[in-house]
Amino acid sequence: MDLEALNDVATRMVAPGQGILAADESTGTIKKRFDTIGLESTETNRRDWREMLFRTAPAMKDHISGVILYDETIRQKSDDGTTLVKLIEDAGAVPGIKVDTGAKDLALSPGEKVTEGLDGLRERLKEYYELGARFAKWRAVIDIGRGGDEAIPSQYCIDVNVHALARYAALCQEAGIVPIVEPEVLMDGDHSIERCYEVTEFTLKALYRELFEQNVQLEGTILKPNMVIAGQKCSDQASVDEVADMTVQCLANCVPAAVPGIAFLSGGQSDLQATAHLNAMNSSYDLPWPLTFSYGRALQAAPLKAWGKAMDVKAGQKAFNHRANMNGLAALGEWTE
Ligand code: 13P
Repeated sequence: MDLEALNDVATRMVAPGQGILAADESTGTIKKRFDTIGLESTETNRRDWREMLFRTAPAMKDHISGVILYDETIRQKSDDGTTLVKLIEDAGAVPGIKVDTGAKDLALSPGEKVTEGLDGLRERLKEYYELGARFAKWRAVIDIGRGGDEAIPSQYCIDVNVHALARYAALCQEAGIVPIVEPEVLMDGDHSIERCYEVTEFTLKALYRELFEQNVQLEGTILKPNMVIAGQKCSDQASVDEVADMTVQCLANCVPAAVPGIAFLSGGQSDLQATAHLNAMNSSYDLPWPLTFSYGRALQAAPLKAWGKAMDVKAGQKAFNHRANMNGLAALGEWTE
């Protein structure tokens, strides 16, 4: 394994003022997004949407360090024949690929999920490397029980998910690809911020134990965690500063300093919340790792609405430039509302 090369890529992915665009929605998920603007989800429309984002200047050059692609997108070409991978590379960003095949029902544990996709992964990674991917993503999903149900998540659910994450990460490093490890504790539900802290801490500690057991070299990884936040249906919502404080405290207790960087998911937060939380963390703390964004919805919701059914490239790019700029400032702790 060439750890120095992996570390170089990981360091580029969390460069100051830059973060990751998660554009790896599966065909089913992007259809749901297109439904909100009344646009049919055809292969060409999906290509046009993503091509519009990847051609956005100056956002891509200034604020986007990497783009997570879906299997279909990493193989697509724009109208002039340029591959979408090349568009990303030409903007100075690193192309990446989602390699999990989704969260499936966990056997004998109703209400819980396990992420699949390990079968044939070694061969798929080899092909993705040839297609230009230099990092990958695997998302594990950990739900928190409703109404104070402490049985969810179970130890079983956390164990199988972090085991799969570590197997994926080891295969990535063997293939010369930086693994983004994403153990997402969901913000659906009515749990308190304290319960989110507890479950996130438990999950991250289990994850780093497992990465160690499976020989994964932390210097060649990126962590993509949730923020510590109350469930969307909890009546008691924490302030921006409380979310920042508890997230930083949780990460400081769980994530080794050897990790080159942490890039948060947005997970259903509004655009503004996702930006404000990231900014609060970066403006108030001196931390061992850069903290940045790896947002899907919080970067794409506004441009998708602006692009709309009319596929207005100018309007879409204006909105994307703005969100990328705001999150770039938040990654530096220099954003103001
Ligand atoms: P969201 O920012 O929309 O949560 O998506 C990020 C992502 O890649 C989830 O795996």
